[in-house]
Amino acid sequence: MLQKPRGTRDFLPDEMEARRAVEWRLREVARRWGYREVCTPEFEDLELFTMRSGEGIIEEMYVFEDKGGRKMALRPEITAAVIRMYINEAKVAPKPLRWCYYADCFRYERPQKGRYRQFWQFGVELIGADTAAADAEVIMLASDMLNSTGVKYELKVGHLSLMRNLVKDLEPVMQRKVRAHLDKKDFDGLKATLESLNRSDLAGSLTALVETRNLAEAFEIAGAIPEKERLEQTVASLDACGVKYSLNFGIARGLDYYTGVVFEAFAENLGAENQILGGGTYRLAHLFGGDDVASCGFAIGFDRVMVSLGETTAKKDTIVGLVCMPEGRKRALEVGRAFRDAGIRTEMDLMERGLGAQLAHAAKSADFAVVIGKKEAESGEVTLKNLHSGEQKTTSLEAALAEVRAHGAR
Ligand code: HAM
Repeated sequence: MLQKPRGTRDFLPDEMEARRAVEWRLREVARRWGYREVCTPEFEDLELFTMRSGEGIIEEMYVFEDKGGRKMALRPEITAAVIRMYINEAKVAPKPLRWCYYADCFRYERPQKGRYRQFWQFGVELIGADTAAADAEVIMLASDMLNSTGVKYELKVGHLSLMRNLVKDLEPVMQRKVRAHLDKKDFDGLKATLESLNRSDLAGSLTALVETRNLAEAFEIAGAIPEKERLEQTVASLDACGVKYSLNFGIARGLDYYTGVVFEAFAENLGAENQILGGGTYRLAHLFGGDDVASCGFAIGFDRVMVSLGETTAKKDTIVGLVCMPEGRKRALEVGRAFRDAGIRTEMDLMERGLGAQLAHAAKSADFAVVIGKKEAESGEVTLKNLHSGEQKTTSLEAALAEVRAHGAR
């Protein structure tokens, strides 16, 4: 028997309905904040992602050569593609641009709970606003979106410049290595790297910076940064809006394009793969041939949110099972059309079963049976049976429609 590829999943209808219900809640929040959906290709030139995505992601990429000998990659994330699209299609559009997406990404990671090779992100990118208000808006939106799903999480907000200030004398590769240790909270690795560089003196301040939850204290440890006032304003806006978060200057982010504010959210019940959102301010446009445009965005790991929510079932449709005898078949098609036109999910027997077998099947799968026998075909009425209460009556089509609709509205 053939199996699906490792790290991918099949979704049955119940699961798809639950996923779509959560997806639509996210869409609704994005809409309210003015973020409009965009869509980019599933694969792009490899170069788009090797320029600034960071080693981790490059190693995990699905890369292939197309028939024209071009090196392509399945997208490991969407931000780089959205910025490429912005330069190709919309660089003259009035700023800022508020865009969102819901799309699948591919990373060749070792699969485990919450970590897949194909996974979905719901993301937003705010392009062309370089202010504290922009940073704050994106973080508020992140918090609103996660709240809309009902997931329980902790939101952490940091800023890269503080850590960068502390390690600014190190070689760029070493700076990156130190940041990677801190990102993974690998303090032993950090210690070893600093020792090898003869910079053990940095260990104390780096650890203190990662541990403080206080902005003034963070500036004391890391020294003042040019973005100090902007970060203070961002934090003040978050506080004014009642966003629940904690400051954390250990956030380094796995991707290399971030420049300032960074933030991540973690769900309570996911174990190792508990990061359900990541984002920050970044600059990518100039690398892809555009003007240097400041952007800020994030992506929610949609699958992890679903795992964290556990078994959620979407509100079920009211289902009508259309039961008919051969003499009623033509009328049943008309009745089916009327129910479907009224927005009611209606399923007709396709197995040429007898009346009893059709009713038994409807009882297993539907809320109502609408029976069209010879008598109903002649009179134009329908027999409506409520399959929960067992109550049955012969009535006009309009009355039956009204009753089923009222059930659905309950
Ligand atoms: P990221 O942190 O690499 O950021 O991914 C965002 C989220 O995708 C993660 O927080 C996680 O929930 C989810 N995720 C990542 N890998 C997997 C996986 N293998 N299986 C399941 N879920 C996963 C980005 O991708 C940036 N583009 C976010 C961004 C947007 N920054 C600015 N704008």
